[in-house]
Amino acid sequence: MYLNRVLSGMRPTGSLHLGHYHGALKNWVKLQSEHECFFFVADWHALTTSYDDPSIIEKSTWDMVIDWLAAGVDPSQSTLFIQSRVPEHAELHLLLSMITPLSWLERVPTYKDQIEKLAHKDLGTYGFLGYPLMQSADILIYRALYVPVGEDQIPHIEITREVARRFNHMYGREAGFEDKACAAIKKMGNKKGRLYQELRTRYLQEGDDEALEAARALLADAQNISHGDRERLFGYLENKGKVILVEPQALLTEASRMPGLDGQKMSKSYGNGIFLREEPDSVSRKIRGMPTDPARVRRTDPGNPEKCPVWQLHQVYTDRDTHEWAEAGCKSAGIGCLECKQPLIDAVLEEQKPMFERAQRYLDDPTLVKAIVADGCERARRIAQDTMRDVREAMGLGY
Ligand code: TRP
Ligand code: SF4
Repeated sequence: MYLNRVLSGMRPTGSLHLGHYHGALKNWVKLQSEHECFFFVADWHALTTSYDDPSIIEKSTWDMVIDWLAAGVDPSQSTLFIQSRVPEHAELHLLLSMITPLSWLERVPTYKDQIEKLAHKDLGTYGFLGYPLMQSADILIYRALYVPVGEDQIPHIEITREVARRFNHMYGREAGFEDKACAAIKKMGNKKGRLYQELRTRYLQEGDDEALEAARALLADAQNISHGDRERLFGYLENKGKVILVEPQALLTEASRMPGLDGQKMSKSYGNGIFLREEPDSVSRKIRGMPTDPARVRRTDPGNPEKCPVWQLHQVYTDRDTHEWAEAGCKSAGIGCLECKQPLIDAVLEEQKPMFERAQRYLDDPTLVKAIVADGCERARRIAQDTMRDVREAMGLGY
């Protein structure tokens, strides 16, 4: 039940940039060797805002998957799939919508923010309001414990936890749950059973957290009860039923706010990015063209790195020695700005080199990518179907 499964998704918005790499993909690559990982293309989420022009979604989907593979996401370690190819997500979204108060969705901060930000679009739709709940379904259907996301997504994980809690509370009481729990307590043996009862009472009546902890430890050590009984007694301890949907945790990707070419956050909409697989000539040209400290009008004018976006990129890409060299050279006008930019260009190209190499075989043979995704969709779907069987049964739809 409690697997340390990881799940994350991205909307297909076009070619990815280095901000996506440093902000998410690098972390995915690390996680895949430690956990069972599921990564998916959130194409339905893209439709919530691009419903009026869905033409870019398909190409963006395949470009994005190639970028993932280029970044080092490894299909032999991770499961890669497309949301709309696992239609069970939609069924869970629908069923969860029955128990989700409208107010929970209306108060998600991204809701009003995005409506204001994308004022040129009409986002007063049913689908857009349901965006976070669809995300909850994405997560809960895999019983994922960890969801690596950026800070902006935290409210969506929070609502997911609330929805899971509400679901378990409403539907987690199997027929005869209390009787089964009591029978399980007996199996613990007289002494331990009595202790469990006492600790449970102390927790439930007096809110004694230490009693809760002690009871959990007691259960974890208990020898003669089955796995199912242990799950029941964990739930019974807090007067809850069985745990059908697992509450996930956000794995906050460390706030690596990747600066763009102009010093603002790197973002597609600002047009200040470097693409993951951007040609070396173009990368060099973009970095050479970056604005610098405006005080350095002439090569002989000293500057201040704190006022320069190039300096911010150095923080991401170059080592301490280079920082010292650049800082001293800038302040004393000992180096020119083009000189200062060169190690940065070298470092970015170096980072991109293996990405180009990895991408090449997929560009040469696009059927490879389709096969990886087809395989991933199938694996994802099997798990989603298992969860849906439990969910339907819990909601009285088990026929
Ligand atoms: N909303 C996420 C974003 O914009 C994308 C997403 C959809 C997602 N479903 C998810 C992320 C499930 C994590 C888990 O970045
Ligand atoms: Fe920026 Fe480097 Fe030029 Fe200084 S020398 S202004 S840090 S590019």
